[in-house]
Amino acid sequence: MRILNFGSLNIDKTYSVPHIVQEGETISSVAYQEFVGGKGLNQSIAIARAGGEVWHAGLIGEEDGSILLQALEDSGVHTEFVEKRPIASGHTIIQVDQEGRNSIIVSGGANRAIDEPFIDKVLSHFSAGDLLLLQNEVSCFSTIIDKAHNKGLIIYLNPSPMDSEVLSADLNIIDCFLINEIEGQILTGEKESTKIMEAMRSMYPKASLVLTLGAEGAYFQKDDNRFFSPSVKVHAIDTTGAGDTFCGYFIASVTKGEYIKESLRKASRAASLACTIKGASNSIPMREDID
Ligand code: RIB
Repeated sequence: MRILNFGSLNIDKTYSVPHIVQEGETISSVAYQEFVGGKGLNQSIAIARAGGEVWHAGLIGEEDGSILLQALEDSGVHTEFVEKRPIASGHTIIQVDQEGRNSIIVSGGANRAIDEPFIDKVLSHFSAGDLLLLQNEVSCFSTIIDKAHNKGLIIYLNPSPMDSEVLSADLNIIDCFLINEIEGQILTGEKESTKIMEAMRSMYPKASLVLTLGAEGAYFQKDDNRFFSPSVKVHAIDTTGAGDTFCGYFIASVTKGEYIKESLRKASRAASLACTIKGASNSIPMREDID
């Protein structure tokens, strides 16, 4: 089974702020840094650092994208399906407060130039039984899902950021959902984690589910089986990319055939460690750090 991650690549313009700016307020940042990020890129790097083999597919800008490509290559991600276009790369404006909490504005840039010919070209290199990982920061979201399903790929969906694009896709063909509580609430209308899991099971009975609960930990659910793994308690500096780290580590571990409980445990530890360093992909730990 090969892993294809069709995902975003962003330059994260990150401002450290005393608090997340309020409506009508102007504040000064105490620091500014640029990091390599994007939910897609972060998840590919997490898979690679966890010891998995992953092919990243996505688009970057001709003039500003080399740093994104380089980061993937440095981590051992296959990049033959990352192409340059004569437009700007995706970027984000991120505020990180003193407790490590963030707020993010995404400007899609080249991530939004993904079209059917590119999707067809990439998918022609993959076949039934391969795994597609997808988030919701690229254009043609539901087209990628439909075409991958028609080819028999196994689809792991991290529907983040959640919006109407996700809700209008055919989610019945998803094999595994990786969601947080907010996404679970939007998908099911339920608020409490147990209720979210019950609702996901009755809405999508064929799918497995990973439900992350931030600092608390994460659940895995498939049919009658449910496991929980608590987070490792850390002093959070910056939570950006922690969810992506979890997804990447979990997928790398399960596709290597490791037990679900062990995969959850590794993913939780990796995500906790990612919160102790500022930035996105640069904060993803190596597997030696987890061991
Ligand atoms: O999940 C974190 C990521 O979300 C950041 O790296 C940023 O690029 C946004 O896509």
